[in-house]
Amino acid sequence: MRIAQIGLGAWGANLLRNIDVLAELSWICDSDSARREQFARRYPNARSTDSFVELLADPELEAVVVATPVPTHYALARQALEAGKHVFVEKPPAMRAAEMSELVELAEQNGKVLMPGHLLLYHPGVRKLKELVVSGELGEVLCIYGNRQNLGTIRKDENALWSLGVHDLSVILHLVDEEPSEAWAQGNAFLNPGVEDVVFCFLRFPSGKIAHLHLSWLDPHKMRKLTVVGRDKMVVFDDMELERKVTIYEKGPEQPAQTFGEWQTRSGDILSPKIATDEPLRLELQHFLRLVREGGSGVEARDGLAVVRVLERLQVALERGSA
Ligand SMILES: NC(=O)c1ccc[n+]([C@@H]2O[C@H](COP(=O)([O-])OP(=O)(O)OC[C@H]3O[C@@H](n4cnc5c(N)ncnc54)[C@H](O)[C@@H]3O)[C@@H](O)[C@H]2O)c1
Repeated sequence: MRIAQIGLGAWGANLLRNIDVLAELSWICDSDSARREQFARRYPNARSTDSFVELLADPELEAVVVATPVPTHYALARQALEAGKHVFVEKPPAMRAAEMSELVELAEQNGKVLMPGHLLLYHPGVRKLKELVVSGELGEVLCIYGNRQNLGTIRKDENALWSLGVHDLSVILHLVDEEPSEAWAQGNAFLNPGVEDVVFCFLRFPSGKIAHLHLSWLDPHKMRKLTVVGRDKMVVFDDMELERKVTIYEKGPEQPAQTFGEWQTRSGDILSPKIATDEPLRLELQHFLRLVREGGSGVEARDGLAVVRVLERLQVALERGSA
């Protein structure tokens, strides 16, 4: 399968390394000539260009990977879909739900795959979380909270909500399978004016579940953690752990008959199931290639739209809060 990639930055390099193994990398594109030269040396069989139009005109090109900064995603993905290419676009594919909705419709009309890069959905640890929720092992899910903090890359063109929160939101919506009825966010832009670097979000779902996110690149801890509290068991996915990515706590509240309705707590085993160490990015791109080969139902694109819808609501709340 012949694939082109636009955007040869820090994350783009990881995508290229995988595409080169899984498919035929036929074009690389970046507006920065130094980046183009660096990657042209590494991938001599791929044609290098600064013109997206030139590569889209290649009739043998089947799919395009978009790994440029977020504000450019929508226009580039749209251009590629209009040119009749399948599109894998880094998260989030658009910064407005109306724009994401247009991309979803365009992909459906043209019979093309549109897949947002929600990396964590392909992480074997997150797949385990979903399995635990769907099988009922956790009991009724009550609340979920995510911690995505670090003294990390300070971005200027996207805030902590869009840059970091998109990961947790994609997982939370995937786990609970519903969209929130309430979405609140508070935060502050301490470093770059208008770009919130510390954000707290609260979501309430129609089923009664609640969720919270702490997103920040101003923090002493590097945390990549999601905690799911079920009525019967609780589980933590910690992506900073090398071996114990998922820990299941057999803990919960219970009302023994002899205590006349008083709540007591139950504390049992703490288990760490084996989680495959496959690279999530490799699994994610394999999924994209499978969709291109076999055709998809469009579910990935529609799930991506739900994530952008919630991001947009949280952004409105964030702006209202800071105003
Ligand atoms: N899935 C993940 O875990 C993950 C992790 C990091 C980044 N990302 C996403 O990947 C994307 C890229 O991130 P990055 O860290 O590599 O950014 P980066 O700034 O390092 O690289 C972006 C590259 O795009 C090029 N570029 C910008 N505008 C362009 C245009 N209009 N045409 C052609 N080239 C253009 C720049 O010259 C640069 O080389 C972002 O959307 C980011 O959110 C995803």
